[in-house]
Amino acid sequence: MINVIQGDITTLPVDAIVNAANQVMLGGGGVDGAIHRAAGKELFNACLKVPEVRPGVRCPTGEARITPGFKLPAEFVVHTVGPVYRDGQHGEPEKLANCYRNSLALAAESGCKSVAFPCISTGVYGYPIEDAAKIAVREVREFLSRAETPRRGDAAMEVVFCCFSSGDKAIYEQLLKD
Ligand code: APR
Repeated sequence: MINVIQGDITTLPVDAIVNAANQVMLGGGGVDGAIHRAAGKELFNACLKVPEVRPGVRCPTGEARITPGFKLPAEFVVHTVGPVYRDGQHGEPEKLANCYRNSLALAAESGCKSVAFPCISTGVYGYPIEDAAKIAVREVREFLSRAETPRRGDAAMEVVFCCFSSGDKAIYEQLLKD
């Protein structure tokens, strides 16, 4: 099931919220900053423990890492790193799609039944919201259609798109009507 809301992702009592992080994965501005502020210092310490895959990179673009949520209502934070948008001709769509795929897979592996996404890459990283939302809805639908054949009655996952602005929410709602 997919829902769209407008609000602050740090307040959502879901199993996992997804953080639009950067590759260093030690906090930043935007939703990353909000999540770290709400989760508290322990989140920073947990991120510090995530091994660097190369100097200064804990989470390469398109990949995902999971930590506890600490003071957040959410049990987990799935950190993912979206592409910095240039012109859409440098692999940005595929990298953004990977953010959704890998975040959902990681949340599912951790037993999460509800996951909330911000509009990854559409702030500081400059991804046009319409293009990014199309990718987000397509990837979540694809994942849920595969997961929707629950074995032994285990419920499929609920995904929430948590938009910060009403404009973004309207774009997602239109896409979900189609
Ligand atoms: N709840 C939900 N969404 C939020 C919140 C919040 N509390 N705060 C911001 N947003 C929205 C923004 O309005 C935007 O729509 O999250 C979306 C993603 O924007 P950014 O947070 O700027 O993330 P992104 O574009 O992926 O850039 C990532 O920014 O903050 C730094 O450390 C981060 O370097 C990384 C870069």
